Amino acid sequence: MIVLIPKENSKNEPRVSATPDTVKDLIKSGLTVHIESGAGTESFKSDDDYKQAGGVIIDSSKDIYSNVDIVLKVLAPSSEEIESLKDESTVISFCQTTRELDYVKALKEKSLTGFSMHLIPRTTLAQKMDALSSQANISGYKSVLMAANRLGVYMPLLMTAAGTIRPAKVLIIGAGVAGLQAIATAKRLGSQVEAFDVRPVVREQVESLGAKFIEVESDSNDGVGEGGYAKETSDEYKKKQKELMGEHISKADVVITTALIPGRPAPMLIPKSMVESMKPGSIIMDLASENGGNCELTQKDKIVHFNEVTIDGTSNIPGTMPVHASELYSKNIAAFLKYMVKEGQLNIDTNDEIISGAMFTHKGEITNQQTQQALED
Ligand code: NAI
Repeated sequence: MIVLIPKENSKNEPRVSATPDTVKDLIKSGLTVHIESGAGTESFKSDDDYKQAGGVIIDSSKDIYSNVDIVLKVLAPSSEEIESLKDESTVISFCQTTRELDYVKALKEKSLTGFSMHLIPRTTLAQKMDALSSQANISGYKSVLMAANRLGVYMPLLMTAAGTIRPAKVLIIGAGVAGLQAIATAKRLGSQVEAFDVRPVVREQVESLGAKFIEVESDSNDGVGEGGYAKETSDEYKKKQKELMGEHISKADVVITTALIPGRPAPMLIPKSMVESMKPGSIIMDLASENGGNCELTQKDKIVHFNEVTIDGTSNIPGTMPVHASELYSKNIAAFLKYMVKEGQLNIDTNDEIISGAMFTHKGEITNQQTQQALED
C-alpha cells in the first residue's frame, strides 16, 4: 500500500506528518512511502534524509494523489486534493471535524475513510497516538516564552544593588495539558503562578508544580463532564467565576488561557471590561483562539493592542517550534497507522475502540456522532 506525505498547503503550517525516522518505521510495517519534495524543509528534514530512510521523493503530490491508498497530513487536504484521491482511500489528519464541515462532507461524498488525530480516545493504550497532548504541551511551553519576550518586566524575583525586583504574576486559566506545561515553564522562569480550572481534580496537579490553585466555591462538580473532560458550567457558576477571575486578572502581568470544551466553541471567560481592569503592559496569550478564544477581544492570528494590554491570538503555536512539533506529531500518526496495519495491509476494524473513535467518515457515512450533530445544527 502506498502512503503519501504531501507538503502542507498552507503558509501558516510548517509542520510535516512524517519524519525520516517514522518513514523508516512505516516501511518496516510493509508500506511504501512517497514524500512530496520539500515536505520536510521547514522542519529541517531534507529530501535526502527521507530518501536515505527508504522513502520515494516525488516532485509534486498532485501527480500521485490518484495512486495512493493512505494520505497522512497535518491540516485537512484541500478540495482539489480530495477530488483527485482514488475511491476508498484513507486520509488521516489533525482536522477538527465539528468545525471543518465542508471537509467532512467532501470525504463522505467521495466515500473516503477519514480519521482525525483530534478524535483519538485519551486511553492508556492510545497514549503514543495522542497528538492533542503532544502539540498542547508545545503550546503551553512556548506561550510562556512568547509572553516573557514581550513583557517589559523580569519574570523572576531579583535582589540587585539597585533594588528588589518582584516576580511577574502569571495566571493560567485551564489546567489541562497546555495549562500544566505553561505552569511548569512559568515556574522555571521564576514567576509567581496561579491557575484556575473548572475541574477541581486538577488542584493537586497544579499544586504539585508549585502554583496556587484558585477555586470557585461550588456545591457540585459543575464543570466536570464525561471522561474527565470539562463541560459547560451553570450560569450561577459562570457569575462566581467571573467575579473571582476579575480580581486575579487585574493583578496579573501575564494571563494564559487554554480553556476548551471538546467539540464546542471555547468558553468566553475574559470580557472587554476585565481587560480594561488589567495593568498597562500586561499580556493575554489566548491559546483557545482557534476555537473562538477565551477573551472577547481575541482575534485569531492577530496581536491586538487594547488600553496598553496585548492580546496574542496566534493559533498555530506548535508551528513556531516545527522540529519537535513535527517529530512528535509524526510519531503519533505513525503509531496510529501502524496500529491498523497488518502484514502491509490496512485493516480497519470498526469494532476497535481507538479506530472507531478516531474515524469520522467511512463508506459514505458519517460515523462520528458529534460531527453528525454539528452538521445538523
Ligand atoms: P482541553 O484542551 O480540552 O481543555 C483545557 C482545559 O480547560 C481543561 O483542563 C478544561 O477543564 C479547562 N476548561 C474548560 N472550560 C473551562 C472554564 N470555563 N474555565 C476554566 N477552565 C476550563 O483539555 P486537555 O488538555 O486536552 O485535557 C483534558 C483532560 O484529558 C484532562 O483531564 C487530562 O488529564 C486528560 N488527558 C488524559 C490523557 C490520557 O489518559 N491518556 C492524555 C491527555 C489528557
